[in-house]
Amino acid sequence: MTIYRATYLHTPANPFEADQALNIQEDGGLLVQNGRIVQSGPYADLRAAHPAEPVEDLRGGLLLPGFVDTHVHFPQVRIIGGLGVPLLDWLDRYALPEEAKFGDDAYAAAVAREFVAGLTRSGTTTALVFGSHFASAVDVLFQEASRVGLRTVAGQVVSDRMLRPELHTTPERAYQEGRALIEKWHGTGRNLYAVTPRFSLSASEGILESCAALMNEFPDVRFTSHINENLKEIETVRELFPESRDYLDTYERAGLILRRSVLAHNVHPSERELGAMAAHGCTAAHCPCSNAALGSGLFPLKRHLKAGVPVSLGSDVGGGTGFSLLKEGLQAYFMQQLLGADGEPLSPAHLLYLCTRAGAQALGLEGEIGDFSVGKAFDAVLFRPPVGSTLHTVLQHAHTPERALASLFASGTQSDVESVWIAGEGIYSRSPAPEAAPL
Ligand code: GUN
Ligand code: ZN
Repeated sequence: MTIYRATYLHTPANPFEADQALNIQEDGGLLVQNGRIVQSGPYADLRAAHPAEPVEDLRGGLLLPGFVDTHVHFPQVRIIGGLGVPLLDWLDRYALPEEAKFGDDAYAAAVAREFVAGLTRSGTTTALVFGSHFASAVDVLFQEASRVGLRTVAGQVVSDRMLRPELHTTPERAYQEGRALIEKWHGTGRNLYAVTPRFSLSASEGILESCAALMNEFPDVRFTSHINENLKEIETVRELFPESRDYLDTYERAGLILRRSVLAHNVHPSERELGAMAAHGCTAAHCPCSNAALGSGLFPLKRHLKAGVPVSLGSDVGGGTGFSLLKEGLQAYFMQQLLGADGEPLSPAHLLYLCTRAGAQALGLEGEIGDFSVGKAFDAVLFRPPVGSTLHTVLQHAHTPERALASLFASGTQSDVESVWIAGEGIYSRSPAPEAAPL
């Protein structure tokens, strides 16, 4: 057993519903045994109860539950920063040419290392990942995630039209390859499978039916896709599915909208779609940096909350601008500020909740991760900025841990992550800055 001594903050309750949702221990202790939290509270109490257990002293920073990124694309690491074009042009110009390279396993393996390292170094301990259109590249991703120990919910991306021929499959092949991947990886170690049609624009009814067949055969696998991101995309989907009431209906009619479904973006939903998502308990993964970068629009968080739709956060790398969920939290905050009276004011507690417990709930993992309640796995990230950095100074002068949390969201980056644990296992530790190398 180990006692972790730290200033820790977490949201065991939902701050969008409860007033006192943010739990703060300024000099707290978490007793961890076999990767699980077995006792928590003031450090002095834990010490008195367990005088002989070793103590890991993490004071001087903020210890938070590991972040949960509910929308991120594995094959897009190397194209982050394709700024200046809207979604459909961005796909043609940046994303799809890069994704076509993943038929090569060696290429996929190199990017898988960059991808998993990018997530863990940013404090993300669980991710819902859009895999590759190539089944073998998805296998490579799961192998790398297993090697590192990242909690990964991922799937093969399937499409059969309007992308480029190398990325197209057929309903039969999508079913066969998906089934093989599910049998190999769903529930293996920390991995879970997510059935993943890219979006209705690139998925015929036949492909969506093959996705539903997998979901019916394996009732515990997750589902993810995109929805209502860009006006031109929405118009094209309307033309492609004349029978459907709206974008959501294209998935709903196929039986793909369930409690375990996560739909990325939903920047332009109708009231009917919001009501149906709420009724199914399906989550919207909000990706604010991507929405701003691609000019997709301002996410109507207030309408989601009013309708009762769960909302989580995603980095949407590479439409997004990097792996840090701190930055997504800040951008979500900005976006709501810019919406004025239509915006939902976000406190540090809301931002922390969106980065942690909201994601755990989206993935049906709230019994295992998302906060520091007794019984949960010890998935955690220690933000302790380097001495001499601006954030280090700011945190030293923060009057309360809540103010420190706000400062962390305002100016924290990947370089402020000192250590990351998953199920009590240290999976990342910051090393001293290396010499700058030429690009
Ligand atoms: N819609 C379909 N594919 C994508 C993608 O790769 N990124 C984003 N942001 N939206 C999409
Ligand atoms: Zn996406």
